[in-house]
Formats: sequence, structure tokens, C-alpha cells
Amino acid sequence: MKGVILAGGSGTRLYPLTRITNKHLLPIGDRPMVAYAVEALVKAGISDVMLVTGGTHAGEFLRLLGNGHEYGIDRLAYAYQERAAGIADALGLAERFVGDDLVVVMLADNIMERSIKNSIDRFIVKGSGAQLLLWEEHEVNHLQSLGVAEFDQDGNIVNIVEKPSDPPSKLAVTGIYLYDPEVFRMVRSLEPSARGELEITDVNNFYVKAGKASYDILEGFWGDAGESIDAYYAVNDFVRANGANKG
Ligand code: DAU
Repeated sequence: MKGVILAGGSGTRLYPLTRITNKHLLPIGDRPMVAYAVEALVKAGISDVMLVTGGTHAGEFLRLLGNGHEYGIDRLAYAYQERAAGIADALGLAERFVGDDLVVVMLADNIMERSIKNSIDRFIVKGSGAQLLLWEEHEVNHLQSLGVAEFDQDGNIVNIVEKPSDPPSKLAVTGIYLYDPEVFRMVRSLEPSARGELEITDVNNFYVKAGKASYDILEGFWGDAGESIDAYYAVNDFVRANGANKG
């Protein structure tokens, strides 16, 4: 199983903080944000990792993470995304690195209270398809800024709606995605969305429509520290008080 951490994008929602650095290098608690994604993977037993980033501060990731050994990574590869062309575009850069393996993809602005090891272990046993990590959110406002899952009566996901004006459930799709290598065939077939990006929700809906998507519901706190300045500080407050990636 390989790990891919996505740390590109333009970070416009955190302007002006992100005019002088990459969002994922901003501090959360006692570490730069991206270190939590690294820790989440390492604690889940993943030691073969690619970091995808872009923009003018890409070199800082190398300075921070180096060859990854200090963080418990055996092999740390890097890829450079030329343009913030979407989450699925960034993932596509990892195709040769992942090869025929399963992959866990993590958006580097997602912070979890609990370890994701159990979900990853379950996916390794499943061995194919996709597994999404959902999180229960009761605030409609917040759901409107996320991907939200829609279910049938038996509790199967039938659709994922990105940033819905009328959320179809209380279960948001977090930025932790487990895929088989088929994902790259899907990424290559994507067309840019109305906002000009290759959308990860289109990738997930491909698995959903093929009946190959399962899910887990995350326990404990989950936050997207890149959503807004308020969200950034709310995640910081949580992590400083409670920690993250706990076993
Ligand atoms: O955080 C969870 C949400 O992440 C999901 O609920 C949504 O379904 C999913 O689309 C995504 O929404 P965001 O609006 O938060 O995506 P954003 O464009 O902010 O990108 C999230 C991360 O992906 C960002 O921290 C870095 C990475 N990224 C993004 C883009 C657009 C890249 O590496 N390259 C990119 O071109």
C-alpha cells in the first residue's frame, strides 16, 4: 500500500496568510500542517509515500521533510503540480509511483483526532475498489462547503454531491480516499469541471456508480484546516487541546 499526500492548490481561502507560504506549511499546534498527514500515514503502517505540491514554495517541503526518515517514512518521493488543476489532477501525478499497488490519498489540510489505521487495514483486506472516509456533520452551512454522500435505504452510497446547496445527508466526504490502481485509468478519462479542475468527486462517483465504493465513518474530530481562516484556527485550537492521530 502506497501513500500519496496532496499539498498543492492555491490556498486562496487563507489569503493573505498563503501569499507568503504554502497553506500546508502553516503551523498547526507545534508542527507545520503537512506533518499531520505524514504522521497519519506512518501510524497506519504506510512507509512508501509521495508528496505532491506546486507553486513557489515547493522547495520548503524538501527542507521540512527531507528523505522522510526522521518521520518514519522509508521512501519519500516528490512530484510537482505545474498548475492548481484539481485534486484528481494532482493525484494523477502519482500514477507511476503507485504502480499496481493500493493507495491511500490524503489531502494535507485534513486533520483527524483518531488514527485511520483500522480503515486502511480493512481496505487492504478488501483489496479492490474504493473506500471513503465519511464524517458526520450537523451544520448545513458546513456541509455546503464539502462533498456530501447520498444513500439508498440499505445504507449504500448512491451519489456524492460536491458543495451541495441542499445536502442529501449529514455525512461529509473527508479528504482521505483509499483506491485500487484502477483509479488512474479513471483520472485519465476525466474532463475539467465548470471551475476548470479535475474533480475528486467525479472519481469517487465513478466507483459509486460501479458499486465498488464502501465507506467508514470517522470517529472523533475531523477538520479541514484550509477551508477558511476560522476553520484554520478552530483546527489549531482542537489539536492544541486534544492532539491528533491518536491510536
Ligand atoms: O476536505 C474535504 C473536502 O476536500 C471534500 O469534502 C471535498 O469533497 C473535496 O472536493 C475537497 O474540497 P475542498 O474545497 O476542500 O478542496 P480544495 O480545492 O481546497 O483542495 C483540498 C486539498 O487538495 C488542498 O489542501 C491541496 C490539494 N490540492 C488541491 C488542488 C485544487 C492539490 O494538491 N492540487 C490542486 O490543484
